[in-house]
Amino acid sequence: MISRWIIAAAIIATQLAADEAPNPSEQIFLSYGCPSCHGFYGQGTSTGPRLQGVKEDILLRRLLNLQKGKYRTSNGTVMISFAQSLDANQTKAMAHFLSNMKTSTDDRVYIDYSSHADGDS
Ligand code: HEC
Repeated sequence: MISRWIIAAAIIATQLAADEAPNPSEQIFLSYGCPSCHGFYGQGTSTGPRLQGVKEDILLRRLLNLQKGKYRTSNGTVMISFAQSLDANQTKAMAHFLSNMKTSTDDRVYIDYSSHADGDS
C-alpha cells in the first residue's frame, strides 16, 4: 500500500517536472526581454500592446509586417528589431505561444492605435 503511494508520488513529480520544461517560445519571450514592454503575461504595458488572447493569425501577420518595417503605433519602431530577431519558424511559434498565453492578472493596458506607417491594422 505504501509503495503504491510512493509510485504515485513519483509519477506526479515526473509530470510536474515535464510541465516545467521550458517551452522554446517561452524562453525567447523571457530571454529577449519581451515582457519589459508586453508584460509577463502578455497583458500589455504602456510601451507595448497586449498580446495574450489576440488571434494567432493576427499576431503572425503583425510580426511579419514589423519584420518588413511596417508598424502601427507611435512606439512601433522599437518593435522592428525585436521582430527581425526571430527567424521564420520562431515567428510562427511565437504567434502561437503569445496568442495562447493565459492571463494571470487583471492588469491589462490598452493603448490607442493611430496610423503611422502602413501597419495593416
Ligand atoms: C521596447 C519595447 C518592446 C519590446 C522589448 C518588445 N516589443 Fe513587441 N511591440 C512593441 C510595440 C511598441 C509594438 C507595437 C508595434 C506597432 O506599432 O506595430 C509591439 C508589437 C508586437 C507584436 C504585434 C502585436 C500588435 O498588436 O501590434 C507582437 C506579436 C510582439 N510585439 C511580440 C514581441 C516579442 C515576441 C518580443 C520579444 C522578442 C517583443 N515583442 C519585444 C514593443 C516591444
